[in-house]
Amino acid sequence: MAPVGTTLIQCCDCPPEAEKPLPMATTTSAPGQEWEFPWREIPWQPIVTSLSIIVSTTVTLIIVCYNHRQNKKISALRNNLSFVNDQLAKLYGPLYGNRLASHKIFEEAVGELVDRETEGLVDYLIKARWIWEKNTTEGQRLLNRWRTFLYYVIHPLDLKAEEIIRDNAHLYEDGCPDVFRDFIVHVNHQKFVVARWKKSERGEKLDMDVEFSENDFSRDNNAGSSTYRLFWTLEEHVTESYEKLVKRKRRLMRLIKESTGNGGGKLEK
Ligand SMILES: *[C@@H]1O[C@H](CO)[C@@H](O)[C@H](O)[C@H]1NC(C)=O
Ligand SMILES: *[C@@H]1O[C@H](CO)[C@@H](O)[C@H](O)[C@H]1NC(C)=O
Repeated sequence: MAPVGTTLIQCCDCPPEAEKPLPMATTTSAPGQEWEFPWREIPWQPIVTSLSIIVSTTVTLIIVCYNHRQNKKISALRNNLSFVNDQLAKLYGPLYGNRLASHKIFEEAVGELVDRETEGLVDYLIKARWIWEKNTTEGQRLLNRWRTFLYYVIHPLDLKAEEIIRDNAHLYEDGCPDVFRDFIVHVNHQKFVVARWKKSERGEKLDMDVEFSENDFSRDNNAGSSTYRLFWTLEEHVTESYEKLVKRKRRLMRLIKESTGNGGGKLEK
């Protein structure tokens, strides 16, 4: 009973209870003012400053990292381009021109006697010997004709090609191609063959007055160690590599242009 009584007493003579609606009334009378206060008191200026520092630092870092990666990429591309340029300028470019010239001259050399497309030096020599057996003067002329081409034009071109191949091993595509090795063996054999044709030990001229014998018409006495098939293989390898490198060079130049001069590139267009 006592607790109920006390609660009642509390309830009844509790003047503050009556005042309760008063504060409520004051809050409803000015709600806006009370809610706006905390916002106004937040120190916006320092927060904004800190935020802009964080944002600008992040942006700067992103830009720095992006530029670093971009620069690494560009310098890798530039390195590749300079290697390809070297390959073209020192090895495959000169070799390509050299082999084209050699091909043309070979065709011209054997063209008088054989079908240039299907036959080669061996057929030329067989025919020359057959003619020589019937007409010594004509046979001599045909063999001297071949030897003149080889001695004065084809052999010097082969020597030049050998030098290009020998001096630029660091620029080969895919290791040392077998065809380069075969060619070097061939050219060195050829040096011994043509050395025997000199007019004198010291001189550089071809001796045109030799009385030929049957043996002089053999293939071994008129060329290097390889058959003309080697030349087609070499020419094919050089042409393919050359064309591949030209394409690679164009691609690298395009990539570098895209990575560096984006704006400039667009402006140009
Ligand atoms: C550059 O060359 C290297 C080595 O040859 C190669 O691994 C890399 O992929 C090349 N990079 C480009 C972009 O061509
Ligand atoms: C042999 O060939 C030469 C040309 O090289 C010619 O002038 C000569 O008449 C030919 N001799 C014979 C017997 O056919």
